[in-house]
Amino acid sequence: MSNTALITGASSGIGREFARYHAKRGGDLIITARRADALEALKAELEAAHDVKVTVVALDLGAPDGAAQLYAATKDHKIDVLINNAGFGGQGAFTDRALDADLAMIDLNVKALVALTHMVAKDMVAHGGGKILNVSSTAAYMPGPLQATYFATKAYVSSFSQALDAELRDKGITVTALEPGYVATEFAAVADLEGTGLAAQKGSTADKVAKFGYDAMLRGDLRAINEGQLRFMLNWIMPWLPRRMAMNMIKKMQTK
Ligand SMILES: NC(=O)c1ccc[n+]([C@@H]2O[C@H](COP(=O)([O-])OP(=O)(O)OC[C@H]3O[C@@H](n4cnc5c(N)ncnc54)[C@H](OP(=O)(O)O)[C@@H]3O)[C@@H](O)[C@H]2O)c1
Repeated sequence: MSNTALITGASSGIGREFARYHAKRGGDLIITARRADALEALKAELEAAHDVKVTVVALDLGAPDGAAQLYAATKDHKIDVLINNAGFGGQGAFTDRALDADLAMIDLNVKALVALTHMVAKDMVAHGGGKILNVSSTAAYMPGPLQATYFATKAYVSSFSQALDAELRDKGITVTALEPGYVATEFAAVADLEGTGLAAQKGSTADKVAKFGYDAMLRGDLRAINEGQLRFMLNWIMPWLPRRMAMNMIKKMQTK
């Protein structure tokens, strides 16, 4: 049985670990991100260690036709697993930030994810099955002052994922939203979060989070938060906190 995974944002962090975990299980891969050299190095590593074939597609997925270009590059493959992982954040007060940076975030975190999912999920419906894992965040559970756009993109991803799962489950396709807490990757540097309380946390590691999310996807879980304490707090405490108190707490964590 074929088991090919398309993984976005595979050049570093959690995405690279998804690729390693999938290859270890004997699955072929299509890996994508902008940095071709990092993708080629991962391809060489995985093909040497496992009996798998890895296809590299280096492109800017946030570009207007990024998702369509990626889909076109995969047309010779049947995709069994889609992992929408590419994404980035950005610290700062909304009105101080460059509008282009926030719009680019929406283009990648939301628009590209929706477009790619539409194309690939249609094929999965035609094939009668598939697994989709969308990398959201604990940010999906609350608004995020000083990362207002990023938190809103992740709220979108978690909302979209759960609705799609309800539409697709009886067609043999499950959609899982992975909602990690802080993970030590390039994310904090890219988002300019260094020096905040958020980035001062030790956090989890990319390999642990990828395994946790991938296994949740295999089970067909709807939402998956990787840390028990966070899961409890977000589901049972956060909804009862006065909103302004919650906003102040989150703002403090993201202040430099
Ligand atoms: N780290 C955390 O604390 C954390 C917590 C919750 C959720 N997440 C989510 O986890 C996902 C993975 O993040 P990470 O922590 O692994 O961070 P990361 O190490 O910065 O990885 C981000 C990946 O996205 C790719 N990417 C960024 N912009 C792109 C673009 N325009 N086109 C194509 N690929 C692009 C990057 O590759 P190139 O630069 O080579 O393009 C890289 O492979 C993201 O969706 C993030 O929001 C992270």
